[in-house]
Amino acid sequence: MMKITFHGHACFTVESAGCQLMIDPFLTGNPLADCPAEACSPQLILLTHGHNDHLGDALAIARQSGAMLAGQVDLLHALDTEGIETTAFNTGGSFRFGPFRITMTAAWHGSTVSTEDGYKYGGVAAGFVISDGTASFYHAGDTALFGDMSTVIKRYKLTAAAIPIGDFYTMGPTDAVTAANWLSAKYIIPMHYNTFPVIEQDVAAFAAAVDDKTDSRCLALQPGESVEI
Ligand code: NI
Ligand code: MN
Repeated sequence: MMKITFHGHACFTVESAGCQLMIDPFLTGNPLADCPAEACSPQLILLTHGHNDHLGDALAIARQSGAMLAGQVDLLHALDTEGIETTAFNTGGSFRFGPFRITMTAAWHGSTVSTEDGYKYGGVAAGFVISDGTASFYHAGDTALFGDMSTVIKRYKLTAAAIPIGDFYTMGPTDAVTAANWLSAKYIIPMHYNTFPVIEQDVAAFAAAVDDKTDSRCLALQPGESVEI
């Protein structure tokens, strides 16, 4: 069993067998965040890409909790990870951590890192499929709709999929309904909406469209809310 908790925007914690990982811990400066970065103590942090609304508090949390930081190899090269244990892998690759097997998937998006010295190349953006042998959870990262959702990613027999619906920076609700159809997950969890005015969306309308037009059930989690899959 896997417990998934939403923390606003694209941030989630995933727990299984006493092990907790955190994805895209953007908490400081996130108006939807339900917890402060200081309260986080994951064992592993996964980064989908280098933009500030995903990198967020990752380095600070890794330093305070001793968590390992994992992401695309070029992204980790762009970060100051001194004193932090890292796993630098790449698209299509997997690694094991505690009860989890984590696979990096493609995403159609950018990944520059904003530093004091200006912008740094941060590799390619990614998503993740996280499995504990009982359930599998896809976090799409920031992405456009892309055809491989219907083939490459669907093969993981997803229990739940978190997909962006905000539009502007990522796919919007109409393409996200198509993504839900292609992914065939049991549950669809909308993310990356309502954090900023430019990505405001009617999540109730999206949930109704998923429930009406796909075989998946939409779980529009509030920040701080969890689901066990
Ligand atoms: Ni982004
Ligand atoms: Mn983003």
